[in-house]
Amino acid sequence: MLLPSFSLLAGALLAQVSVAQAQCGSGTPDARVTGSGSSFTATRGSTTVYSGSDYRAAIQAAVDSISSGQRVAVMASGSIGANTITIGSGKTFEGCGTINVGNKAGRGAIESLNTADVKIPYLTMTGNPYFGLRFYGTRNLSLGKITMNLSGGLGIRFDRDAAANSNVSMDVISVTGAGSHAVETWNIDGLNINQVIARNVGESGLLLQATRNAWVGLVDGNNVGAGTGYATFRMANNNGQLANGNYNTNVYIDKVISRGGGRGIFCVSRSGAVVIKEVDLANNGNNAILIENCYNVSIRGGTVNGGGEVRLAARSEFPNNKDIWITLSVSGTSVRESPCGENTNWTLSGSGTRNIC
Ligand SMILES: *[C@@H]1O[C@H](CO)[C@@H](O)[C@H](O)[C@H]1NC(C)=O
Ligand SMILES: *[C@@H]1O[C@H](CO)[C@@H](O)[C@H](O)[C@H]1NC(C)=O
Ligand SMILES: *[C@@H]1O[C@H](CO)[C@@H](O)[C@H](O)[C@H]1NC(C)=O
Ligand SMILES: *[C@@H]1O[C@H](CO)[C@@H](O)[C@H](O)[C@H]1NC(C)=O
Ligand SMILES: *[C@@H]1O[C@H](CO)[C@@H](O)[C@H](O)[C@H]1NC(C)=O
Repeated sequence: MLLPSFSLLAGALLAQVSVAQAQCGSGTPDARVTGSGSSFTATRGSTTVYSGSDYRAAIQAAVDSISSGQRVAVMASGSIGANTITIGSGKTFEGCGTINVGNKAGRGAIESLNTADVKIPYLTMTGNPYFGLRFYGTRNLSLGKITMNLSGGLGIRFDRDAAANSNVSMDVISVTGAGSHAVETWNIDGLNINQVIARNVGESGLLLQATRNAWVGLVDGNNVGAGTGYATFRMANNNGQLANGNYNTNVYIDKVISRGGGRGIFCVSRSGAVVIKEVDLANNGNNAILIENCYNVSIRGGTVNGGGEVRLAARSEFPNNKDIWITLSVSGTSVRESPCGENTNWTLSGSGTRNIC
């Protein structure tokens, strides 16, 4: 009796320790890229698959040398220039060094297109890409701790006019300095994100479009979309609408934090089917919250302090807002519903002036 429960406990402890200690490049990756400056080596096991001055070629050679189910660890730091690294099905890519990238029009610095079971548990990227990471047609894609310290470009992008994705997960995505969005999705069914942390980003922090069955733990933006209509958390282009056309809740957001920048939360163009459990928005340069032509949107609590007004609005091109339920404390800014939505329900506290239906 003692032994099994002891070994169970020991096993659980071991599992915890190994999770805590797991780090980029740990254990025995099937392939590795090492070196620095103008000398890089890619090895698969004990076989050298590239040796030379081209960091990009070393990485691609290492990726190409492994098979599905295997792992490559890029230990070296360097610059790939305005180029693209492509990752095929079943491969695990760990970017342990700092991968500096350039801008290749319409392309990702790293891409995985029409693939299954690709994992990128770790990645540190710098530079000014067109897209840092670009995806479409992926199934079972898993992104882990991704840190992008950029001087422009868009962080992570799932393409619009391309094959859809299913079962995408992300752990912690931190993007600083993107000129466009930190994370932009299109066409995902099944998305789980622990955190998106966006700092000094030009457009949105997290932008979800035509994405359904999603859960996000936290979207945290500081100085995101300053001087634009973009938002720390934006939903657009039928986001949340199910295949049968309805808006039964299928997008769940635990928390949105936003400071400064443009908007805090923006729902637009027939999106919705969303529950946002808690918001903490302050001093947004544009609307703290704007809900425009959205359906079945519920904000369950939290605070807005200062910044642009909380607004329900409508453009004539789409049906008016419908089924909007908001429980919120709003101070230091106003709340305005114009035009009146259909089946809106406000439970407001705080000191902001109200002009609601
Ligand atoms: C996705 O992962 C599940 C569980 O590992 C597996 O059963 C399924 O075949 C995978 N799908 C694809 C398309 O690889
Ligand atoms: C989703 O993908 C992950 C890998 O990212 C896999 O572990 C999981 O089993 C997949 N789930 C389904 C339902 O396919
Ligand atoms: C991001 O990169 C810039 C320029 O390379 C550097 O000055 C800054 O310290 C970096 N910030 C972080 C948080 O890594
Ligand atoms: C909103 O979503 C909830 C949860 O799925 C559902 O019960 C409700 O009917 C939806 N409301 C409308 C008006 O679509
Ligand atoms: C409005 O929302 C509150 C809080 O969720 C709820 O208690 C109330 O029943 C709702 N009112 C209507 C008319 O549905």
